[in-house]
Amino acid sequence: MESKYAGLKVWLDGRIVPYEKAVVPILTHSLQYGSGIFEGIRAYDTGKGTVIFRLKDHVKRFMNSMKIYYMHIDYSEEDIMNAILKVVKANKLSSCYIRPFAFYNSDAIGVSPKGKKISTYIAAVPFGAYFGAGKEKGIRCKVSSWHRINSLILPPQAKASGNYINSILASMEAAASGMDEAILTAINGYVAEGPGENIFVVENNKLITPSRESDILLGITRDTVIMAAEGLGIEVVERSIHKEELYTADELFFAGTAAEITPIVSVDSIQVGSGKPGPITKIIAERYSSIVTGKDKEYSDWLTYV
Ligand SMILES: Cc1ncc(COP(=O)(O)O)c(C=O)c1O
Repeated sequence: MESKYAGLKVWLDGRIVPYEKAVVPILTHSLQYGSGIFEGIRAYDTGKGTVIFRLKDHVKRFMNSMKIYYMHIDYSEEDIMNAILKVVKANKLSSCYIRPFAFYNSDAIGVSPKGKKISTYIAAVPFGAYFGAGKEKGIRCKVSSWHRINSLILPPQAKASGNYINSILASMEAAASGMDEAILTAINGYVAEGPGENIFVVENNKLITPSRESDILLGITRDTVIMAAEGLGIEVVERSIHKEELYTADELFFAGTAAEITPIVSVDSIQVGSGKPGPITKIIAERYSSIVTGKDKEYSDWLTYV
C-alpha cells in the first residue's frame, strides 16, 4: 500500500532509512499488546530557521516513560535529541510533527517482553492543525462515559501506546454522538483531560486546570500555558474541577502539542460562554503561537534550532 509518507526518511536504531524500508513483522509485540512508548513533538518555522519546541522536555519524558516500563535503550537523552535534529534535517521540513517511538521489535506471542529486542524509531512528518478549522472556530465536546485511566492501573505519566486505547474509546464515543472530541473524567468523577490534550477552564479572567490528582498527563503545553499566563498577569489555579464547571465556564480550551490551543465552544451540547472562542483563549493562543515561533524572546530557551 502506498503511504502518504513515502519518500520521507526515518531514523531507525541509529540509521536514517527510507520510510518504506522501516518495517516490522505483523506479530510485533508492541503492535499486539500496546507495549510501545512514544512522544509527540512539534517543529515550527520561525522565518529564520526551524525550531523544535521544548525538545529537552519531550526527550526527558520519553526516557522517563521507558523507565516506568522497565525499558532500556542504548541511547542517551542527548543521542535522541541529536537523532531528532538529524531526521528533521534529513526530511528538509520547515515545520513538522515528530514521533519518537520505542518498541519491542520482536514477533513474540507471549505477553512478557522480558529479554526482547527494543528498537527506536523517529519519524518527522508534515502536520497542520490537529482539529483543522476547529483551531480557530472552536470544537464541540462530549463528556465521555469512559473514565480516564487511573494511576493504580496504568501510569498516566508514561506515554505508553496502550494508554491510548482508553483515549480511543472516548474519541469514538464522542464521534458517534457527532462531536469533535471527548473530555474524560477521572475515576473520582472530576474532570481530567481530553484523549490527547489537557484542558483549561476560564472563569472570571482566571485559568483553572485539573491538577495531577485527576490522573492527567502533565503536558508540556499545559506547563507552557501556565508559564505564559503568569507572564501575562493571568492567575492560574490547579485544582479538581467538577463536570458542571465545564458547562458554566466563561471559556474553555484544550492545550497539547498536537492540538496547540484549541477553543471548546460547547460541552454535551451546552454552549460555553458566548459559543465562540473567548478573549482569554485568544490571548493565550496568540502568546503560545509567538512563543513557539520564536517571536517572544523571553522564552527562547525552549527553542532548539535545527
Ligand atoms: C493524554 C494526553 N494528555 C495531554 C497531552 C498534552 O501533552 P503535551 O502538551 O506534552 O503534548 C497529550 C499529548 O501528548 C496526551 O496524550
